Amino acid sequence: MLNPQLNANGELQHLLTIDGLPKAVIDHILDTASSFVGIGDREVKKVPLMRGKSVFNLFFENSTRTRTTFEIASKRLSADVINLNISASSASKGESLLDTIDNLAAMHADMFVVRHSQSGAPYLIAKHLVDTRQPHVHVVNAGDGRHAHPTQGLLDMYTIRHYKKDFTNLTVAIVGDILHSRVARSDIHALTTLGVPEVRAIGPHTLLPSGLEQMGVRVFTDINEGLKDVDVIIMLRLQNERMSGALLPSSQEFFKSYGLTPEKLQLAKPDAIVMHPGPINRGVEIDSAVVDGKQSVILPQVTFGIAVRMAVMSIVAGNEA
Ligand code: CP
Repeated sequence: MLNPQLNANGELQHLLTIDGLPKAVIDHILDTASSFVGIGDREVKKVPLMRGKSVFNLFFENSTRTRTTFEIASKRLSADVINLNISASSASKGESLLDTIDNLAAMHADMFVVRHSQSGAPYLIAKHLVDTRQPHVHVVNAGDGRHAHPTQGLLDMYTIRHYKKDFTNLTVAIVGDILHSRVARSDIHALTTLGVPEVRAIGPHTLLPSGLEQMGVRVFTDINEGLKDVDVIIMLRLQNERMSGALLPSSQEFFKSYGLTPEKLQLAKPDAIVMHPGPINRGVEIDSAVVDGKQSVILPQVTFGIAVRMAVMSIVAGNEA
């Protein structure tokens, strides 16, 4: 299964990663999302695109934004949503992931939205659905380990396009714990596919993965150099849950060196926007004054996430193997 997310016609059947996703597919998702932005302000907040479909939210890892916005997106598409309570499910009694999937598929699931701490879990499910000849069931990756968070990457692209219009004249900096970040990986693949000429990664050596240059990224360990004249800053939190061993002296030291303060923000272009996928840790990777400042678009990102997830789900649900 070389690229299991595309069917024989090159259409999106599952969304597992942005890596290898054609620009035309990304553009189609962003354009479709545009048509859903603002639906929350309408008197009737629903469209019937997934009426009669059952979406199962399977979050094996905690989430506030992704889980809630997938649920809202499903409801706005008129789907039935089932949020599996993992801690109260039979997964806690030793049932395997694929046995859980088989049982939920037997309840006529049409789509699984999956977050898992293990990189590759959504792939495993998509492959299993192919192997068990269930091409009508779709998988959307809601974040797997440190591998990918494709809908976050897409909503980040939607946000950048909204504020900056054109990708092809931008400098975008991603700052912080890039080593453990699935969001950074998805953003880098999306930004380079969409033609951003300069993508920068800024962080300490211990939090920068190898291979960034091969992905077309300029690497900086000095934030003062890295932030110079950028158009977009994407801040990342320290993902302590994925760290093994001491990679930093302390979070206070990290804030001193890499925390985004109003003073450091002045190094960027005057109209630069500040993004963060959340959850934010004020005073660790970002100062409160920046979070709440006029250049912050952190909360609009969350709102755009609903439209982007509606776009992904409606597109994927419309395609079969
Ligand atoms: N950005 C993001 O994935 O946030 P949650 O963990 O709250 O879903």
